[in-house]
Amino acid sequence: MIPVWAQVTYLGAAACFVLALKGLSSPKTARAGNLLGAGAALVAMVVTFIVYELDNLALIVAAIAVGCLIGVPVARRVAMTAMPQLVALFNGVGGGAAGLVAYLEMSSAPTVFPLAAAVATVAVGSIAFSGSVVTFLKLQELMTTRPVTPPAGPALFAISLAVTVALGAALYADDGAGVWLGALLGAVGLIVGILFVLPVGGADVPIVISLLNAFTGLAVAASGYVIGNALLLIGGTLVGASGTILTRLMAQAMGRSVVSILFGAFKGGSTAGGGAASARPVRSAGPDDVAIMLAYARRVIVVPGYGLAVAQAQHTIRELVDLLEKRGVEVGYAIHPVAGRMPGHMNVLLAEANVPYEQLLEMDTANGQLRTADVALVVGANDVVNPAARTSPGSPIYGMPILDADHAGAIVFLKRSMRPGFAGIENELLFDPKTTLLFGDAKASLTALVTALKSL
Ligand code: TAP
Repeated sequence: MIPVWAQVTYLGAAACFVLALKGLSSPKTARAGNLLGAGAALVAMVVTFIVYELDNLALIVAAIAVGCLIGVPVARRVAMTAMPQLVALFNGVGGGAAGLVAYLEMSSAPTVFPLAAAVATVAVGSIAFSGSVVTFLKLQELMTTRPVTPPAGPALFAISLAVTVALGAALYADDGAGVWLGALLGAVGLIVGILFVLPVGGADVPIVISLLNAFTGLAVAASGYVIGNALLLIGGTLVGASGTILTRLMAQAMGRSVVSILFGAFKGGSTAGGGAASARPVRSAGPDDVAIMLAYARRVIVVPGYGLAVAQAQHTIRELVDLLEKRGVEVGYAIHPVAGRMPGHMNVLLAEANVPYEQLLEMDTANGQLRTADVALVVGANDVVNPAARTSPGSPIYGMPILDADHAGAIVFLKRSMRPGFAGIENELLFDPKTTLLFGDAKASLTALVTALKSL
């Protein structure tokens, strides 16, 4: 039994985790929420060191040092666009760690429930680990981002899942003594994780990260139960619940069901990714013409997307918007929930440039304003303004809620080429008579627009 002061501290840490999640729900409070959660985790860790008589203290400290030496510089240096794969990797390591803890506790699990929890943790933890590694490889483009459907994939998946359950039952019957059975369970879990993620392609991969994150949370919660640590149980449950909710929200924002995201590829339905550049003619213009269009507009709605993050042009777009506002143009940013490559990507990016929160318009508001906007300025976005989501039932993005840039009086796209967006499909809006393209890297184009505006 740990002392009361430690239990109270754990309880305080758990409350901080809940408050941290609340803080993360708004850009205004996200930074403070993040710090609160991290601080609570640190305090809980220190308490653990004080109250438990830990074996192998030197090894534990060495492992923490190695983890910090690798994790801290990687997290500090990571490009904003590579954040999802970093999250995938960190999440996988968490799931793997929970699985290992449960594996080690398996043979000493005293009663039925802790043993069942240990068995489940080994299975779920190893699935989360290998699944996360595959999502990392896909997002880092170390392997194809397209769905991979191994021959007899569904059967293979079903068999390995059945073997996992059978091994779990065998371990349970064996009272957890069969250490090799536990290792086998972990190994089959790894295969299940790989088969689970391989068929998911293109735009859907970050949703799977969120789902695997929920798995990790559940594995951690179960391992907390196994080793009798209430804080792990609460923290893991929070991660499991929030990961599940986030998965559903992201799927909804893309107009897909979670099942079709996970298994759609076997029916040819998962988002393809990749895609070739179109050779169809479009109308393009130089920065001077576009600057005139913007300067004499009454209302301009900026639609930021993944390309804005790639170009790191958040400060330049802000400069352009400030100049337009000085000229009396009404400007807002239309934020699509899945613009970019991770939830809240555009909010984080624009917050870096201190864009006032009031200028960030949620989808419904933005769509209302786009109807009366003179210009929709689409900066490095593509799929989130693709009308095929409304009009083409055969399209992989059909049903996904989009920003109605096509309802604006004129549309200007800032992009480098005619390559498609992440979903790998052509965007008819690029060929619309109301559309003008300004080709080039978003930062260079925006800088040219700022210069042109200043000289007007
Ligand atoms: P995309 O549809 O991927 O389009 C990005 C556009 O930016 C492309 O047209 C690209 O064209 C352009 N671009 C890239 N680098 C550029 C640069 N340096 N300068 C100027 N333009 C540049 O992006 P989106 O509209 O933001 O949509 C997001 C996609 O990601 C959706 O399909 C969404 O479902 C998916 N997704 C998002 C999330 C989350 S949670 N955000 C999760 C999973 C999937 P060029 O190459 O021609 O320049």
